[in-house]
Amino acid sequence: MADKSAKLTIDGKEFELPMHSPTAGPDVIDIRKLYGQAGVFTYDPGFTSTASCDSTITFIDGDKGELLHRGYPIDQLAEKSHYLEVCFLLLYGYLPKAEELEEFENTITRHTMLHEQMQYFFRGFRRDAHPMAIMVGVVGAMAAFYHDSTDISDERQREIASHRLIAKMPTIAAWAYKYSVGQPFVYPRNDLTYSENFLHMCFAVPAEEYKVDPILSRAMDRIFTLHADHEQNASTSTVRLASSSGANPFACIAAGIACLWGPAHGGANQACLEMLKEIGTPDRIPEFIARAKDKNDPFRLMGFGHRVYKNFDPRATVMKQSADEVLDLLGVENNPILATAKELEKAALADDYFADKKLFPNVDFYSGVILEAMGFPTSMFTPIFALSRTVGWVSQWKEQLADPQMKIGRPRQLYQGETFRDYVDIENR
Ligand code: SDX
Repeated sequence: MADKSAKLTIDGKEFELPMHSPTAGPDVIDIRKLYGQAGVFTYDPGFTSTASCDSTITFIDGDKGELLHRGYPIDQLAEKSHYLEVCFLLLYGYLPKAEELEEFENTITRHTMLHEQMQYFFRGFRRDAHPMAIMVGVVGAMAAFYHDSTDISDERQREIASHRLIAKMPTIAAWAYKYSVGQPFVYPRNDLTYSENFLHMCFAVPAEEYKVDPILSRAMDRIFTLHADHEQNASTSTVRLASSSGANPFACIAAGIACLWGPAHGGANQACLEMLKEIGTPDRIPEFIARAKDKNDPFRLMGFGHRVYKNFDPRATVMKQSADEVLDLLGVENNPILATAKELEKAALADDYFADKKLFPNVDFYSGVILEAMGFPTSMFTPIFALSRTVGWVSQWKEQLADPQMKIGRPRQLYQGETFRDYVDIENR
């Protein structure tokens, strides 16, 4: 129930709008009846000041640089938990007991195989297809194979679809990579953990035994955890909007993958590493800082800035620590790209432009450095982000379907086009 209200005066007429208070974050003004009462719309391109839904999954305090999943801070989860336990937490809202976690992990493990027929989807692509193009296509096509988990009105089918998506994304991402390098697909194995399985499917070849390096699997698991969910970001909002029409879960997640692909969103990790390589050496940093500040230059520092964080992205802080650890443990001495990244961060944070606009490194700034050191090509960075974020998408999708307030999302507009005019026959134009 509304505990306070906001008053709006339009042309001398006063309207009272209910307000709702959250458990954390800003109050909201409930404008659902505004158009009916006052005949006006609100206007918020990019949704900079708009809450689209209720949620209990993830909270971000952009000023403090705090990220909580079901109340637990991301730095503690990255340090003490692991990805499948975070998946359970996001899906069900609490940290599992040992036996619950074991059952959940067994369930996910047993859903990692793809229908054998799906291989033909991969083979229909050109070898140089971007893995994100393959993921969008193959995940959407899952609706043609897993009919017994597409009925969104059936809670059990919703749960099976969630498990299938979380379990199969590593297989789909790994096979997209294998296809791009012309190597045979490697099947998942039930004796490996989630991150070990992904690395094995990416880097094993039939010609020899592949032992998963525990350093890499720990780093991989941490990267999965850091990308798991992030409130109502663009791709999650895309999944929610697609789901609001009653679309099946595979279509909704394929829509989320498509949105994440953009360089302003999940595609930034690939764009950031490509930018660091273009910069090359620290002496070219001032040139790129100047370009990022130049209003006439569309160039932006990739991996910098965030709609919500006006302080450090806590994931970037953990990622930076991991970058040092992983490169050190891999014996990658003085990685020039990491050195350039650190110099660039220092130079940007010392520059008034970035300080005044509160632009800090985000989750994408350091992730690419680690992924490249682990052996992934830049084209696999965003597929790994998509793989990690699948649990966030399905958790938010499930939450929305259970929300009694849920209705089809249908925004209005500020129309600036031509008003009514009659058709003109071609001979009179
Ligand atoms: C992700 O929403 C999420 O939670 C996303 C995400 C998640 O986990 O789901 O956190 C993942 O997408 C992280 C962001 C990855 N994208 C990038 O690193 C791309 C580079 N950054 C940006 O393009 C930008 O910062 C955004 C898209 C991330 C945020 O854009 P906003 O909130 O719409 O801010 P804006 O574009 O209005 O910028 C505000 C000002 C502008 O200057 P003015 O017009 O006010 O003078 O800051 C400037 C921008 O020009 N600015 C930058 C900049 N980012 C913003 N200038 C230079 N370099 C940048 N990176």
